[in-house]
Amino acid sequence: MSAALPYAPDLATIPDGLDLEQEIRRLKGARKAIVLAHYYQEPEIQDLADFVGDSLQLSQQAAKTDAEVIAFCGVHFMAETAKILSPGKTVVLPDLDAGCSLADRCPADQFDKWLEQYPDHEVVSYINCSAAVKALSTVICTSSNAVRVVQSIPEDKKIVFAPDRHLGKWVMKQTGRDMVLWPGFCIVHEQFQAKRLAALKAQRPEAKLIAHPECDGSVLQLADFIGSTAALLRFVKESPASAFIVATEAGILHQMKKARPDAELIPAPADSGCNCSLCPYMKLNSLEKLYLALRDLQPAIEIPEATRLRALAPVERMLALG
Ligand code: 13P
Ligand code: SF4
Repeated sequence: MSAALPYAPDLATIPDGLDLEQEIRRLKGARKAIVLAHYYQEPEIQDLADFVGDSLQLSQQAAKTDAEVIAFCGVHFMAETAKILSPGKTVVLPDLDAGCSLADRCPADQFDKWLEQYPDHEVVSYINCSAAVKALSTVICTSSNAVRVVQSIPEDKKIVFAPDRHLGKWVMKQTGRDMVLWPGFCIVHEQFQAKRLAALKAQRPEAKLIAHPECDGSVLQLADFIGSTAALLRFVKESPASAFIVATEAGILHQMKKARPDAELIPAPADSGCNCSLCPYMKLNSLEKLYLALRDLQPAIEIPEATRLRALAPVERMLALG
């Protein structure tokens, strides 16, 4: 007997002229579903979502929702985290290929082997990793709580931090803790170059440079504010400044524009020369695929139970820190 083929969204099955937004709203009710969206999603997805947030906020929502279905408009590790926390719910990701360069470049078997060099270390893993890597970790963190999570580890303990070396270096600076770093990076944030940003800052001295800690240290050194996507949005909302150079994925500009229609929001130029930095994984999701995911309840996230249980403990340790 041949194995079932993995589900692939078939856009051709969408009836011509269907009002996608209306159908998605109807299916949300019919399926008792909640739509969670990351700030890097397309504006039309953010506008239809029940909740838009950063990685930490989305995992908190996934842990507390009483919906029967979670349609996760983000990337695979985020939907997986929702499934780790809510195994009884159906968790669908509109496009199963929506991965992440950080998670993809830290395969669990290689990570496990690498950890053999550090048997007496606590393992702090950034949430941008697979369930199998989470299962090898002491505690998980996101960009908004990484400093707090590392500070929660007793001073006498040694620490391994994975998979983002830039976030790791920034946390080392903030906490004064030495950590062994897995050499991963995000292909989107890696695009921003200090030289170009310094030139832009010189042209626009009144603009605040705000950056995500997944950026290289040389970029972070130039920044007026560093934080997770939610923290960057909060900064823009609350700052008296009227111009901001935004060094993170450009999807966040949608909420920033809504919060500060008066402000000038300048996407940080990417190294490749284009004027925007878009995550190719995040952008795989679309309204069409969200509609199909709610209609077919596919593609659904599945995790072997033993892995899920091992991954749950470090995720819960993070959530317990608030
Ligand atoms: P936050 O949502 O924690 O800001 O992280 C950004 C990111 O790269 C998500 O993949
Ligand atoms: Fe991963 Fe970077 Fe995309 Fe976030 S922006 S999902 S870290 S590749």
